[in-house]
Amino acid sequence: MKKILFAASEGNPFIKTGGLADVVGALPKYIDKSLYEVSIMMPLYQCIPERYRKKMKKVTHFYEDMPREQEYIGIYKMKESGITYYFIDNEYYFAGNAPYNQIYEDVNKFAFFSRAVLAALPQMDYCPDVIHCHDWQTGLLPLFLKVFYNENAFYSNIKTILTIHNQKFQGRWRIDDIENCRDIPEKYRYGAMEAYGESNFLKAGILYADQVTTVSETYAREIQTPEGGEGLEGVMREVSEKLLGITNGIDEEEYNPKIDKNIPYPFGVGNIAEKKKDKKALQKEMGLKQDSKACLIAIVSRLTQQKGFELVVSVMEELLQTEHVQVVVLGTGEERFQHDFSWFAQKYPDRVSANIGYSEDKAHRIYAGADMFLMPSQFEPCGLSQLISMRYGTVPIVRETGGLKDTVEPYNEIWQTGNGFGFRNYNAGEMLYIIRYALKIYQEQPKAWRAMMKRCMKRDSSWQSVTKKYENLYAKLTD
Ligand code: ADP
Ligand code: GLC
Repeated sequence: MKKILFAASEGNPFIKTGGLADVVGALPKYIDKSLYEVSIMMPLYQCIPERYRKKMKKVTHFYEDMPREQEYIGIYKMKESGITYYFIDNEYYFAGNAPYNQIYEDVNKFAFFSRAVLAALPQMDYCPDVIHCHDWQTGLLPLFLKVFYNENAFYSNIKTILTIHNQKFQGRWRIDDIENCRDIPEKYRYGAMEAYGESNFLKAGILYADQVTTVSETYAREIQTPEGGEGLEGVMREVSEKLLGITNGIDEEEYNPKIDKNIPYPFGVGNIAEKKKDKKALQKEMGLKQDSKACLIAIVSRLTQQKGFELVVSVMEELLQTEHVQVVVLGTGEERFQHDFSWFAQKYPDRVSANIGYSEDKAHRIYAGADMFLMPSQFEPCGLSQLISMRYGTVPIVRETGGLKDTVEPYNEIWQTGNGFGFRNYNAGEMLYIIRYALKIYQEQPKAWRAMMKRCMKRDSSWQSVTKKYENLYAKLTD
C-alpha cells in the first residue's frame, strides 16, 4: 500500500475560500483505496468551526528549531468521509478569523506550515511515498525537502507533486523579510525561490517538485505563454516535460440534485420539471418577481478581477432592457463589484438580487433554481462552478478560457449538441451578444433548451473518471 499525503492550505468541509478546498476535500475519497492510502495535512486554523475542532484528537506535539525560535508544533487528527486529516497546530501562525490575511503574514505562515509538515513526519512515525502539494502555500515544501533533509535517510524516498490551481498567486514578498526562510542558503533563496527580485514560493515548487500538474489541459498550455504565465511562463516552458494538465471533477455526492438537502424540490433527469419549483422558491427567497416567463441568470463566485465581472457590470443596464431577465448574484470579494451589484439590486429590486457574502446552502439553491450560469472569466485554471451548475441542469455561459473551454461545449443549433454557450474574446459586447443568443434559444425553443439541460445533467464530471490520471502519476513516481 502506497502512502500519499496531501499538503494544502484549505480543504472541505473544514475551511474553504474557493475551488481548492473542493478538490482537496473530494479527490482523496475517489483514489483507489486498494492501492493508495491518502491522508491530508492542513493548518489548524482557529477559524475552523468548533463542531469539527472538538472532534479532533491530539496525536503529539514537539518543538522544532526555526529561525524565530524553537517553535511549537502540535498535531491533531480526525477522520472525515473515510479520510484521515492531520492538522498542524500553532496559535501564533493560525489565529484570526480567516485562513489568509495580509500577504506579508501569509508568506511567513505558509513557510512555517511547509516546514512543519516535513518536521512532523518522523514524530508521527509516518513516511509518505508521495507528498502532493497544492498551490504556492506549499510551494516551498519540495525545496525544504532538498535543502534541509537531503542527507536524512528517513526522507530519502519521498517524492513530491505540485498541483497549480492558480498561477496568479505565487507567494511574493521581500525575500529578506520572510523570517521562516532566513536559514535557506542564499544559493536557493536568491535562486529557485526568487523571481523578479522577490520571493516566489510557486517557482521554487515548480522547479523542485518531481512532477507538476495543473487543473486543465488548456490552462497547462496557457501558463507557458506570456498572456497566461503571470511572469513564470519561461519557468513553465523549462519544466514542460514534467507538466501535466488534469481537469478537475466535482464531488457528485455533494452536488446531487436528486438528494440535495439544501434544495426544496429534489429532481433528476427523469423529473426535470421539478426544477421549476426550485426556481419559484428561489425567486421568492431572493425577493424577485414571481415571473414564470423570466429567465434567471446566476452568478456564484469570488467577486474578483479574475472572474470577469467588469464585463457584466458594464452591460448590466443593457441586459436588463431585455424583458423577463432576472439576475441573482452570490459572492464576496472586491469592494467595487460588491458595490456595483448591490446598486443594481437596489435599482431593480424585482429583477436583480445581490447576496454579498458566503453561503454554502444558498449556493446550492441558486445552482438548482437558476436557468443559466454566467462565468465570463478573464482566466480560469479549471472552474468548478460551471460543472456544478451543469449537474443541476443550469446551462453555463462562459468565456472560452482555461478549464471553461475544456468543459463547456458550445451549443450547436444544427446538430443539436453542446451543453452551454461560449464567447472567445474578453469583451463585454461579445459576451452580451452570446447571452442574448442564449436567451433567444431559451425563450423560443423550449424543447431544444430542455434537451440541453439534460445533456448538462448527464455530463460526466465525476472524480471517478479523473483519478486514474493521478493514480498513474503516483505509480510512475513510486515504482
Ligand atoms: P475559484 O476556486 O477560482 O474560486 P471554482 O469555480 O473552482 O473557482 O470554485 C469555486 C467554489 O466556491 C465553488 O464550489 C463555488 O460554489 C464556491 N463559491 C464561490 N463563492 C461562493 C459564495 N459566495 N458562497 C458559496 N459558495 C461559493
Ligand atoms: C483555483 C482556480 C479554479 C479551479 C480551482 C480548483 O481556485 O481559480 O479555476 O477550479 O482552483 O482547482
